[in-house]
Amino acid sequence: MSDKKWRSHNPSGSNRVVVTKELPGDRWFEILAQADCKVEICTSTDILSVEEIEAAIGDQCDGAIGQLTEDWGERLFAAFKAAGGKAYSNYAVGYNNVDVDAATKHGIPVGNTPGVLTETTAELAVALTFAAARRVVEADKFMRGGHYKSWLPTLFLGELFWHKTVGVIGAGRIGTAYARMMAEGHKMNVIYYDIRQNKALEEYIAAYGQLLKAQGEKPVSYRRAESVEELLREADLVSLHPVLDETTHHLINAERLALMKDNAILVNTSRGQVIDETALIAHCQKHPNFRVGLDVFEDEPEMKPGLSKLDNVVIVPHIASATIWTREGMATLAASNVAGILKGYPAWHDQDVSPFLRGDPPKAAPSIVNAKQLSFSLYTR
Ligand code: DGY
Repeated sequence: MSDKKWRSHNPSGSNRVVVTKELPGDRWFEILAQADCKVEICTSTDILSVEEIEAAIGDQCDGAIGQLTEDWGERLFAAFKAAGGKAYSNYAVGYNNVDVDAATKHGIPVGNTPGVLTETTAELAVALTFAAARRVVEADKFMRGGHYKSWLPTLFLGELFWHKTVGVIGAGRIGTAYARMMAEGHKMNVIYYDIRQNKALEEYIAAYGQLLKAQGEKPVSYRRAESVEELLREADLVSLHPVLDETTHHLINAERLALMKDNAILVNTSRGQVIDETALIAHCQKHPNFRVGLDVFEDEPEMKPGLSKLDNVVIVPHIASATIWTREGMATLAASNVAGILKGYPAWHDQDVSPFLRGDPPKAAPSIVNAKQLSFSLYTR
């Protein structure tokens, strides 16, 4: 065990499950207790090192729930396997911190928590969008500093989005939800870039455009950009929602920032490494009307020097999925991934996970990302 403090739940359980952070709600540990698990939870808020997690795994560890801040690679999966490890789940939808190939090599199923973060994360992206565009944080500081002396026609002028163009890079679940919120709520035309065509989004925006037309209003439109550059040139507002991998690392760099409008808004709720943060700081220093909303950082939890000094950047500590419903749902899914595998149930992948959030959940592990590679029987309904 590491020197961090741990607490135990259901100590008589015969499967030992290590959980590296306190999770919200109680449903998740009831799920594990029903699978005959003794649950050991690290109560420290510090990021655990590989060595500390390895020590916590010890000689017997049947299941583990880890965090996006931890490095689950070859060393941990080898230790986990040697300790009898049968199932790992990330407490996150993203799993760039997990070496899935290493887990697969050791025969370890890797779970994630999709489906419960979609609207929550998109809503925070919308919040950052407006906080940046309407200078909410700057104006709040101004008020608290006692500087408000008179209403002025020129005080804190920002940007209006109505009937302008929103650019979405990465049109998966969260990118799609964000695009719809901005198109429906603010009548923005949508331009998106994704390696896959998103027909559902296109059909939705087209139908919504028709509805507006039928009401005598100006319709909204959609377009799939052929390149990131095309999108950056055209959009008034760009929101980033790609998966982080070698193709999206520093996707937004100095050259691409230079293509954007001087008064554009850039929002990132995906992963910090998608943006070259040093280049972003230089760009924001040079273009005071370019505004940014960031939930994630390249060297999280650190920020690159100079970022926190910029008035045109709104920064929050990776809280896009931080609603009670979502974080409890993520805990339920992570626990169900581990419990499902320990009980010998089949693994789901890329399916609707909502039945797991209700009373009588399916007999399956809800989301195992390497189910196919491990030739798990996949549940089909
Ligand atoms: C995720 O799940 O990947 C988010 O970044 C944290 O909720």
